[in-house]
Amino acid sequence: MTDKIDWYHDFIDFEYNVDDQDLVALFYYEKDESLSHDDIIGRLASESSIGTWTTLETLEDEIYQMRARSFWRDGNFVKIAYPLKLWEEGNMPQVLSGVAGNIFGMKAVKNLRLIDIKFPTEFVKSMRGPNKGPKAFQDYLGKEGPLTSCVPKPKLGLNTARHIEVGLDAWTGGIDCIKDDENLTNQSFNRFHDRVEKMAIARDKAESETGDKKDAFINVTAETKEMERRVRMIHDHGFKYFMVDVVTTGYSAVQTMADLAHDFDMAIHAHRAMHATFTKHMTHGMNMYLLAKIMRLIGVDNIHIGTVVGKLDSPKQDVIDMKDMLLMDKMKETGVRFLDQDFAGMNATVPTASGGLHPGTLPEVLDIYNTRDMALQVGGGIHGHPDGTHHGAKATIAAIDAWKEGITLEEKAKSSPALAKSLEKFGYIQPV
Ligand code: 3PG
Ligand code: 3PG
Ligand code: MG
Repeated sequence: MTDKIDWYHDFIDFEYNVDDQDLVALFYYEKDESLSHDDIIGRLASESSIGTWTTLETLEDEIYQMRARSFWRDGNFVKIAYPLKLWEEGNMPQVLSGVAGNIFGMKAVKNLRLIDIKFPTEFVKSMRGPNKGPKAFQDYLGKEGPLTSCVPKPKLGLNTARHIEVGLDAWTGGIDCIKDDENLTNQSFNRFHDRVEKMAIARDKAESETGDKKDAFINVTAETKEMERRVRMIHDHGFKYFMVDVVTTGYSAVQTMADLAHDFDMAIHAHRAMHATFTKHMTHGMNMYLLAKIMRLIGVDNIHIGTVVGKLDSPKQDVIDMKDMLLMDKMKETGVRFLDQDFAGMNATVPTASGGLHPGTLPEVLDIYNTRDMALQVGGGIHGHPDGTHHGAKATIAAIDAWKEGITLEEKAKSSPALAKSLEKFGYIQPV
């Protein structure tokens, strides 16, 4: 074999019996006319496991047996099985450096889409998963879902005092949690430390005014050690949640944050800003479904997955599949949409709908999600209310109540002037 230049076809075996503990990846690929399908699927399995562009004098038989195998192909879809031994337990970045690594940059591969990964049970058990998931509603807030949150707008520029005022208006209007926007961290107009201290005072005030438990998703996004300091500060001020932009901070940083959440008995609200740089184009990159799965394994308690009816792109079936995957213990392979997955009793992650929602669209989102184990997040749809934030919050809660009571929003609006005003302005518009 060492006389040959390459050995890519050794990484194809359609007779291969997939082991229960193999990690399996499902890809879609596009190739150059000059290359065969085997040329591509051999390269994918090789470069993502033990191989490189040529045969090796250093290859031993035991190592040869550790190679990945492309074992199934249908058109441009391929499944590759990887022996468990290739992966370091509990190390998500290492897994991605293989399965989502060099292969995406190979000359021979025109486009490549990583659709899903079936993580074997032994690997799943090496990940901590969420500290709480939906259990946080009861344990931290003493309520059933859906959890509600509101992000003060304009998304940047409000000074700390205004931010708190707006937050207090939303809390006392019935919202559970005040959420920072994804690009608000520690800017000069709204310093992190100042915000945390004042939010804690406002939270206590909102709690005593309403008799309900309140919390906040304060954004700790920064360099990892600084994030750790910020989480400690949030914890010291009695908040149970904190927020992280999980794509911009990276898989390793999120793992560190998940450890902190477990240590401090807290929950992570994950914002997915930047995901669309690699999830949006269907022929290249990685599915949002897989990103959400990875984040559940790492241990975020809430994650944004789309609204269908709001301002951000999120096809209905994708949202339903992600919601099921985040909440269920087992997923059964469906066509080339996703693979089998057993979460081995790991806590669930709360699917979160956010982006362009307002009271008129909430019942439809709740119907699509079809569960109370979810979080609803409204920004502009609250602060854009003609009578301001407090009434926007009331209209939001009234719309959710209407859904729970099984009545229409028009019916509910008869006893909720705030909802009536919201419907007058927004109606049932689906922003684009
Ligand atoms: C890399 O990760 O940079 C490659 O493994 C380089 O290996 P090669 O020289 O065999 O391509
Ligand atoms: C978010 O980060 O979730 C968005 O800021 C939601 O804001 P919107 O409700 O105004 O779209
Ligand atoms: Mg936002």
